[in-house]
Amino acid sequence: MPMEELHPLEAGVLAALKDGDGATPEDIAAAAELDINSVMRALNWLSTKGLVKIEESFDEIISLGREGAEYARKGLPERRAAELLKSGDKSIAELQSALPSHEVPIAIGWLKKKGMATLAKGVLSLTDAGRVEGPDEKLLKVLEAGRARRSELPKELQEWIKPLSTRKDVLKIEERIERRVSLTARGREVLKKGLKETGAGQLTHEMLKSGSWKGKSFRRYDVSAEVAAALTSKLHPLTRTIEEISEIFVSMGFQEIEGPLVESCFWNFDALFVPQDHPAREMQDTFYLERPGEARLPDERIISAVAAAHENGGGTGSEGWRYRWNKSLASKTLLRTHTTATTIRHLARKEPLPIKVFSIGRVFRNERISFKHLPEFHQIEGIVVGDVNFKNLLGILREFYARMGFEKIRFRPAYFPYTEPSLEVEVYFEEKKSWIELGGAGIFRPEVSETLGIEHPVLAWGLGLERLAMLRLDLTDIRMFYRSDIDWLRGLPL
Ligand code: PHE
Repeated sequence: MPMEELHPLEAGVLAALKDGDGATPEDIAAAAELDINSVMRALNWLSTKGLVKIEESFDEIISLGREGAEYARKGLPERRAAELLKSGDKSIAELQSALPSHEVPIAIGWLKKKGMATLAKGVLSLTDAGRVEGPDEKLLKVLEAGRARRSELPKELQEWIKPLSTRKDVLKIEERIERRVSLTARGREVLKKGLKETGAGQLTHEMLKSGSWKGKSFRRYDVSAEVAAALTSKLHPLTRTIEEISEIFVSMGFQEIEGPLVESCFWNFDALFVPQDHPAREMQDTFYLERPGEARLPDERIISAVAAAHENGGGTGSEGWRYRWNKSLASKTLLRTHTTATTIRHLARKEPLPIKVFSIGRVFRNERISFKHLPEFHQIEGIVVGDVNFKNLLGILREFYARMGFEKIRFRPAYFPYTEPSLEVEVYFEEKKSWIELGGAGIFRPEVSETLGIEHPVLAWGLGLERLAMLRLDLTDIRMFYRSDIDWLRGLPL
């Protein structure tokens, strides 16, 4: 390490360490005529460069509190009581007339606890142990002479610091970190080569103007030196992903829609042609609500159209599910299990075509929490209604994932009760060399769209958000998003 890489402060500190290991930063500050902050700064640099070693040890400075000082002078309450008992057994009443009343219970408590006296039928009698001075009393005396370091007190007195400190205002304990600095072998070597004049310091505007920098030597920068981390505020990665996705859809000409988290079965399932005995409706998947237990349903016109679709297809050319549709089951309340509930609500409003909307929101499923499942997560949902076809659907999905940075995606046939054809989207994850399923999509069946009076194809998709964010952040545990691990959050790129 060439000397010109040393900062003048470092050189000063190093020189002050010349004779003697184990100097404290305060010693160095005095020897080098520097302030303690400069010394600490220089020591940090020197230690990252491996020129000094800093050893830290912890100690406590023990001193007497207000009560402790009084006890040291007058004796502990139990000692004063013991003195009285020397002349014979005493009743509690007798003790009360001799000691300040608030000290009586304290004295009796400690007399018994330390085995200094016995208490029977309201009478106290002194034991042998009560006649000799205890280590806690010795400790008080030692401290009366002045504060002490824990490490310098005899072992048997050290043991009494804790019990004494449980008594109010008896002891004051200050924690202290002691630093001792010594030169490493490299530090000694650098010092032996001699500390020469350490360059011209900082290049100034004047030096540049006058040209006086020429021929001068300047301190080099150590580009490998550690620096303090710059902690800037930033949004949570999930929030950022949500904002990014929302911008992508907006830039593709979509409008954002929102829907309630507490939904009716009607919008979450029935309007989507999910039969009322479908397993996904079962308690193990869906969180049903007790209060409010019943949801307001839309127009009778919409309800009877949906009922007909379930029962017999209702003129959509379908046979329906062929069972008797139950309105009260449809008005049960739940936490929405997918954002498709929000989509279908929007569709029922029959806005003018073409419709291009998306929503990003929370959904709930009764899943056991694990590294890949949470009972609460987000979906990215959207529909396009107009003169569109299946190819457009694939194109939109491809475009979206490409903008998110995933070029390699594929579609697989799938099944949803509300779409036909239905597909699953998978993206290729290079690092794992595997395909990962990210969501579902399809074209709404006539039982869904025609029932709501929509005659055009409805392209629809519902994609997972967390998994996408995990892939991009290289996360293997979904719970990380909710753990508030400040180090991880700080370490994320802006
Ligand atoms: N709702 C489906 C799910 O939660 C996804 C989906 C949305 C599928 C729209 C098709 C159409 O998995």
